[in-house]
Amino acid sequence: MRILAVLVALLIVPSAISSQAGDPSGVVSSASGLVVSSSDLASDLGAGVLAKGGNAVDAAVATAFALAVTYPFAGNLGGGGFMIVRTPKGHAATFDYREMAPGKSTQTMYLGPDGKVDSSLTRSGYLAPGVPGTVRGLALAHKRFGHLAWKDVVMPAADLAANGFPVSASLARSLNGEVIGTSNAPGPMQPFPASVAAYGKPGGGAWVEGDRIVLADLGRSMRAIATEGPDAFYTGWIADRIAEDMAAHGGIITKPDLAAYVARERAPIKGKFLDYDIVSMPPPSSGGVTLVSMLNQLEALKIQQQPRMSAPAVHLVMEAMRRGYLDRARFLGDADFVKVPVGMLTSKRHARELIKTIDSKEASRSADLGRDILTQSMAPEPDDTTHFSVLDRAGMAVSNTYTLEGGYGSHVVIKGTGILLNNEMGDFNKKPGLTDATGSIGTPANLIAPGKRMLSSMTPTIVAKNGKLVLVTGSPGSRTIINTVLSIVLDIAAWGMTGPEAVEAARMDHEWMPDRMTIEMNGIAPDVVSALKATGHDVRVQGRQGSAQTIWIDPRTGQAFGIPDKRDATAKASVPAAK
Ligand code: DON
Repeated sequence: MRILAVLVALLIVPSAISSQAGDPSGVVSSASGLVVSSSDLASDLGAGVLAKGGNAVDAAVATAFALAVTYPFAGNLGGGGFMIVRTPKGHAATFDYREMAPGKSTQTMYLGPDGKVDSSLTRSGYLAPGVPGTVRGLALAHKRFGHLAWKDVVMPAADLAANGFPVSASLARSLNGEVIGTSNAPGPMQPFPASVAAYGKPGGGAWVEGDRIVLADLGRSMRAIATEGPDAFYTGWIADRIAEDMAAHGGIITKPDLAAYVARERAPIKGKFLDYDIVSMPPPSSGGVTLVSMLNQLEALKIQQQPRMSAPAVHLVMEAMRRGYLDRARFLGDADFVKVPVGMLTSKRHARELIKTIDSKEASRSADLGRDILTQSMAPEPDDTTHFSVLDRAGMAVSNTYTLEGGYGSHVVIKGTGILLNNEMGDFNKKPGLTDATGSIGTPANLIAPGKRMLSSMTPTIVAKNGKLVLVTGSPGSRTIINTVLSIVLDIAAWGMTGPEAVEAARMDHEWMPDRMTIEMNGIAPDVVSALKATGHDVRVQGRQGSAQTIWIDPRTGQAFGIPDKRDATAKASVPAAK
């Protein structure tokens, strides 16, 4: 079986890694830099900044601003996220620009009169947003590592918004759903006139592919940010508009909240899996700690000795996920507010302790493992974000994941600014004490407090081997994100796949609670599913998981490949045009 797998891999490898522009996979190789994002226009704009002599951070900032124009589903100025930069010499820095809870927020602000979480309050509207971090975060990373002037990296996206751009088929579908809605339900932007004015087709009706969309207010905001710097957003006229709109509609974000927002450079989470060095995001992301914990467990379990997608391999991966996510629920939150035992959780010793409870023949029960934090043990009951990766000619790499949380965030565009706000407050534990089998978590570490950052699963990650860059990746997908990154790292580091194979390959997910595993369609043989069910796993083969816009460097040749994840129709790997 293994010999067959190796033969198949050898047959696949040459075609998988020789793809060039024009190949339907969209995989491109370049020695002069790469930008891979979920939007073709944004990737092209980022590559244009590389062509003008910008480094990877300049291109990343330009791409992030461009995604806020062309990919409003998740690209943003009104949200937050995380960036990892790896310098050509291998030094890694991380930037935390996660949203912060407003000063007037409280632990129980999302509970209705019946004591239950009123999810309508975090799904949509003026109470849903945290104080946005994107503009300060991008400015901080640029100040630390950028080469071109700030204005020159922000202005291209401002021009794109002001001049307009052609609507793709997928953007038309997405905007129509958001603004007009379906025969069953009005579009989520309908209650918010400024949002409909910004994203509805002028004169009414549905967007169609090839229409031109102009985002004049957003362009004006971006021009102000380009020329005046991030203070235009946090203390200037944009802050005035946000605070006025909030006050007029029952929101709680104030001008002092905006002025107090800080982005932070933080020490990365570092781990080692076999010969690979992992760099990922520390709290308030749970991504790095959970990823490294799962990899440590799987290394101790010698996962590489099990054939990929065999029943023993999937069983062990799921058990490691179960334990990693239980620790996530138990310990993780904003380390500026709560003590998070990062060193312990990411240690090899802790992984050895965790795997002692794994039975090689039988699925563990999540409820049994986490009884100390479960407040209700019930029968199990029967996700937007975007990641992009950048590499420049000198070898500087950027891994960036940022989000509005749900698609189009709170659905609120602040009048006169074109800026769509997030609904990230829903990532806090909303009901203190309620941790149950549905996946609700009510542990103290991630309860709401003014100025605190809500726990995230975003996992921008950079992997190196023997000091050489191998992988730049990350994904959307809420709690599945960490497992999407884990799946890609394992496919490459444990099972020897190439980057294009690993991005295409089926992904799996288990999050401790709900106690079930999901595996992407067509990713697993039916007899393996039966074997897993026989050991007590609740297995669902369904749907798609994530969208990992990835860069991979072939360790044998040193060649860099941009790999658009075609789970996202408009994803593209762009290279700087030759001069
Ligand atoms: O920070 C987080 O973990 C989430 N707010 C990310 C949301 C997300 O990925 C939705 N995407 N499908």
